[in-house]
Amino acid sequence: MTSPWDPDQYRKFADERSQPFYDLLRLCQPIPGGRAIDLGCGPGELTKVLHERVAARTTVGLDNSETMLAAAAQHAGKGLTFKLGTIVRFRPAKPFELVFSNAALQWVDGHELLFPRLWAGLAPGGQLAVQMPANHDHPSHLIAHEVAREEPFQSWLGGYTRRVPVMPPEWYAELLDGLGATDLHVRLQVYGHHLQDRLGVIEWVKGTLLTDYKHRLTDERYAAYLERYRERLLSALTESRPYFYPFKRVLIWARRA
Ligand SMILES: C[S@@+](CC[C@H](N)C(=O)[O-])C[C@H]1O[C@@H](n2cnc3c(N)ncnc32)[C@H](O)[C@@H]1O
Repeated sequence: MTSPWDPDQYRKFADERSQPFYDLLRLCQPIPGGRAIDLGCGPGELTKVLHERVAARTTVGLDNSETMLAAAAQHAGKGLTFKLGTIVRFRPAKPFELVFSNAALQWVDGHELLFPRLWAGLAPGGQLAVQMPANHDHPSHLIAHEVAREEPFQSWLGGYTRRVPVMPPEWYAELLDGLGATDLHVRLQVYGHHLQDRLGVIEWVKGTLLTDYKHRLTDERYAAYLERYRERLLSALTESRPYFYPFKRVLIWARRA
């Protein structure tokens, strides 16, 4: 199966998508001579910024999408490498000074097991920095799952609907405190995006959430799904130009003792 991730579609909102990355990066402290890993690094531009800003000796960008890694390859060098692999099996032999992940862990189930595993991958004094979208109660997301439950899509998808594993911010704070975090910063932030019009919301989710349905459908069936999604979404969103799209995200930063 080819990867559903399309770097060009994803980059359509590069400025809007990079703002939370820079907000997360601002929480991180430099690790001169240290080792960093960027879980779900995507097309690599931001991994390069991370590598340079925290002054890491080495940074690994890890992603399970071959298309994303093909785009990332051009940024490799000077201690920055990219590797094909899944976050699901992240259990490093040698711990990192910084475990970083921007907009990727929402794709990994079971955060009650995942976060302790990421924590175990940190060296003493190491930092964990994570940003995840938490917009699953917006019509842009709710309608995507509702359409997946309508026929014929339900049958075409074999009954699959995406279950979002992202928990409330206080859940992460409690978990990390329980793991012994010395410094802890957890917040929910609303990013306001001025899209040209309501159709911009569709372009936005096509680059992320809808990839999960796309790779489970043939091109023809995905086109039908998108058409139904468009019809339902447009009836749920008030028309305005520009269209204001509020998007919630959880930002997490913690230091290990
Ligand atoms: C929304 S993109 C974020 C990319 C990048 N971190 C950024 O900020 O632009 C999510 C990335 O996570 C990757 N991803 C999703 N699930 C993954 C997994 N289980 N293991 C590794 N990478 C994964 C996808 O391939 C994709 O490149």
